[in-house]
Amino acid sequence: MGLDYDFFYKWVRKNLNIDLNAYKDKQLQRRIGTIMKSSGANSLEEYSRLIEMDKEIRDIFLDYITINVTEFFRNREIFEEFESILVEDIIPKFRNINIWSAACSIGSEPYTIAMILDKNNLRGKGKILGTDIDDNVLKRAGRGIYSENEMKNLTEEEIRRFFAIEDGKYHVNNELKKMVNFKKHDLILDRYEKGFHAIICRNVTIYFKNETKDMIYKKMYESLVPGGIFFTGATESIYNPGEFGFKKISTFIYQRM
Ligand SMILES: C[S@@+](CC[C@H](N)C(=O)[O-])C[C@H]1O[C@@H](n2cnc3c(N)ncnc32)[C@H](O)[C@@H]1O
Repeated sequence: MGLDYDFFYKWVRKNLNIDLNAYKDKQLQRRIGTIMKSSGANSLEEYSRLIEMDKEIRDIFLDYITINVTEFFRNREIFEEFESILVEDIIPKFRNINIWSAACSIGSEPYTIAMILDKNNLRGKGKILGTDIDDNVLKRAGRGIYSENEMKNLTEEEIRRFFAIEDGKYHVNNELKKMVNFKKHDLILDRYEKGFHAIICRNVTIYFKNETKDMIYKKMYESLVPGGIFFTGATESIYNPGEFGFKKISTFIYQRM
């Protein structure tokens, strides 16, 4: 049975305001096929009607296509490189800095950056913005409450210093929370803010087509101040950074020239 993705993508754009054309087709269509079947629908027309009528089915669909996997200090060694560039290059140059964690899922990434600033006595010097397309993860990010298995990369010292444990859950402390603001932002359809000294955008462009990635790199360049840095995921190297006005300064970190 062939599925009418053309119809479905148009329907999703019109009704849910998400541009699925920007994502890699094969991967995305496999995921849509799987989640559609689990709803009991036999065609994308039927599935779109279910999504429209049933909030639970709509939430499951959105959750499934957006892939929210994340961790604190995801690839810690790369965060160590980020920390040394931030402390040795960015802070001395700019003093007060704006940092954007784009596609931040449930907030582990922006809170990781807040921990790095705090550890370096830079709490008052950095403002962090965490954004994502998905309202549900943003709600969780704002609450800052995590389960034990979401804490796996953190040291005991970090947990003691930055979290309070209540009823078996880990609550981000208020000092850290005050450093981070969360806001909805779609990397494909929304306008990008400017004036950032560092942008962290990891483990999301892998889901996008090449032309979408290029558009994002161009916009990231414009959002950074000259000398600002762009931190990508471990599988998201930019092969031609010079074309976008970036210079590679570390394995996954690029600087606006
Ligand atoms: C795999 S998670 C990455 C989280 C975090 N950056 C990390 O590396 O741990 C991908 C996130 O991208 C978000 N996302 C997917 N499409 C997006 C878009 N068009 N604009 C903004 N965020 C998007 C998803 O909702 C999800 O939270």
